[in-house]
Amino acid sequence: TLDSFERLQVADALEAVKFHQNDVIIRQGEKGDNFYIIVEGVAKVTQNKGQADVDQAIDVGTLTTGNYFGEISLLLDRPRAATVIAQSSLKCVKLDRERFERVLGPLKEILKRNIQKYSSVIQLYS
Ligand code: CMP
Repeated sequence: TLDSFERLQVADALEAVKFHQNDVIIRQGEKGDNFYIIVEGVAKVTQNKGQADVDQAIDVGTLTTGNYFGEISLLLDRPRAATVIAQSSLKCVKLDRERFERVLGPLKEILKRNIQKYSSVIQLYS
């Protein structure tokens, strides 16, 4: 739903970032300051439904080229809802909080609505 000028603004603000296999990109419970879009590779999303005990983490999803992650913290101003780990070497582009607000502002409501599609929605809103 972005027009071509808005798309250019987003493209201009994106910063390329690379991760190695098994790198923990986002850790559940931490403060979040970046939003990511996967350019190439696969990432695994795990979540700890109870206390912050890493052993209890269960898989809640797999993300790949074109998928995004890290929006929940920025949109809802809450700690990271899940852990995201690179399953292969991973190329992403990212936006920090300030750029996310500025260039993805027009998409905020759509991104917020999409949060409800995550299986963990109950944990997020309870
Ligand atoms: P955020 O909470 O900022 O950081 C972890 C990210 O994992 C989260 O944003 C979502 O972008 C992403 N994610 C993918 N699947 C899920 C899920 N099932 N529950 C919560 N977050 C998920």
